[in-house]
Amino acid sequence: MSNPEIRIFEGLEPLSWAAAKRLEELARVKALEKKSLSVALSGGSTPKLLFELLASAGFQGRVRWANLQLFQVDERCVPPDDAQSNYRMTRLALLEAVPLPPGNFHRMAAERADREEAARQYADEIARVLNPAPGQVPRFDLIFLGMGPDGHTASLFPGSPALAEQTAWVTPNFASKLNSHRLTLTLPVLNAAAHVIFLVAGEDKAETLRQVLEGPARQYPAQLIQPTIGTLSWFLDESAAHLLEK
Ligand code: 6PG
Repeated sequence: MSNPEIRIFEGLEPLSWAAAKRLEELARVKALEKKSLSVALSGGSTPKLLFELLASAGFQGRVRWANLQLFQVDERCVPPDDAQSNYRMTRLALLEAVPLPPGNFHRMAAERADREEAARQYADEIARVLNPAPGQVPRFDLIFLGMGPDGHTASLFPGSPALAEQTAWVTPNFASKLNSHRLTLTLPVLNAAAHVIFLVAGEDKAETLRQVLEGPARQYPAQLIQPTIGTLSWFLDESAAHLLEK
């Protein structure tokens, strides 16, 4: 895999604008091909501004929302209206403000008691929409990822069982440090994507980011994101990037 694209921005707002423009560019290409753009969105706090910019009056007209199929990268195993829910954050910041057809947002039903069944159902939804060839891993056009201070991404936490999952596309996982059950896309799916963009901001990520990008390989889950034939980009703010070699 070629070296990742690394872009450093003064702050979260220019970083988020750049991410929004990358989505716009990819959506425009797909529209010319008369195809939908499949995008998997992370949760947490970093992408919230991106979602708000995408939904803003100045931007949302630049995307044909009926051409987007939006999925979740991961979800906390809580009700969809819970303050911890990634879906709730995405609904409030984005979905309620844009003309995305309701069937074009694919929510992880992570609140279900049977998390294995919920994972299977989400994988079926991915298969229905992305329609991979038999035996092939579904290929998202674009996946936005975050990174925690511990180097986790999606809900793939250091030392967690889901890191070893090489067959299922979606799996339950347990974040022991957070005492949090999750549902998450797995490495095979994340690494099958055409474009993966990490959005990382904040001083609390700086040391881990230095190790992830410049330290020994395969120490952190974020380092295991190596798209097989896709592109990998890191959109960073200066606070997160200041320890990187100039
Ligand atoms: C989640 C996310 C997770 C997130 C990182 C970074 O459910 O929490 O999907 O992987 O991207 O934890 O979170 P912040 O953006 O809040 O720093």
